[in-house]
Amino acid sequence: MHKIEEYGIFGALNYKNFRPPLHQPILSQCLKNQAFNLALDVGCGVGHSSIGLSHFCKRVTGYDISKYMLKHVIKHEKITYTSTKPIIEYDLLCFFGSLNYVTESDVIGFIKNLTINGKIICCDFKINYNPILKILKINPSEKGYNYQKNLNDYNLNLKLIESKSSSFEFECDSIQLSHLMLTEPNIKKLISKKNVGQKKLSQILLKELNDELPSKRIKISSKGYCMLYNNRT
Ligand SMILES: C[S@@+](CC[C@H](N)C(=O)[O-])C[C@H]1O[C@@H](n2cnc3c(N)ncnc32)[C@H](O)[C@@H]1O
Repeated sequence: MHKIEEYGIFGALNYKNFRPPLHQPILSQCLKNQAFNLALDVGCGVGHSSIGLSHFCKRVTGYDISKYMLKHVIKHEKITYTSTKPIIEYDLLCFFGSLNYVTESDVIGFIKNLTINGKIICCDFKINYNPILKILKINPSEKGYNYQKNLNDYNLNLKLIESKSSSFEFECDSIQLSHLMLTEPNIKKLISKKNVGQKKLSQILLKELNDELPSKRIKISSKGYCMLYNNRT
């Protein structure tokens, strides 16, 4: 299981300041035009995945264990955010970028409140930072992270309905890119300097990006993953 130390004060601020516009398109890969009453978004962060879900659901409950993330949530009329495990019944259970942080028994607990015919959706995205790292003369390193963690590895009696992966492209500026890069623990490790705090590190990274990148708008490619399960086989 991955550590959640990156979801402290600075992690939350980086999330608040920029996330790529990928949540709804990735969810759409599997959800298409399906409609749900209530989704539970486990590990909602500052709410980007909950907002993505709001396009398919009447209401969304965003749950996260990081008080820093919840402090910066994006308010939305359809979304309620909470730091307490909800004991309400939902017909869609979502793990967007959070499945690597929860245990099997957590997953079992969340499934208990899913309706009999409810669905589970697991999504993630992998950004291709290699062109940027090359410009910054940094050798890329692997994150050691499973972007397509499969719930069928657990003995949960779930049926995989669909598994999709597609390429996505988005544009951002250097400030947004610096926030994005600083949410990646492996990249943070590569650019970290001795005795430099997080605030200073983000200033150094932004200066390097502004000095080295050939244009103000940067095109970034990424891969989006989505798996949809039925509660019962
Ligand atoms: C990669 S972020 C994804 C945030 C959001 N879903 C998004 O797509 O923008 C993972 C989130 O999972 C949360 N998290 C980690 N472990 C958790 C747990 N056991 N229960 C609930 N949330 C958790 C973290 O605090 C963090 O906000």
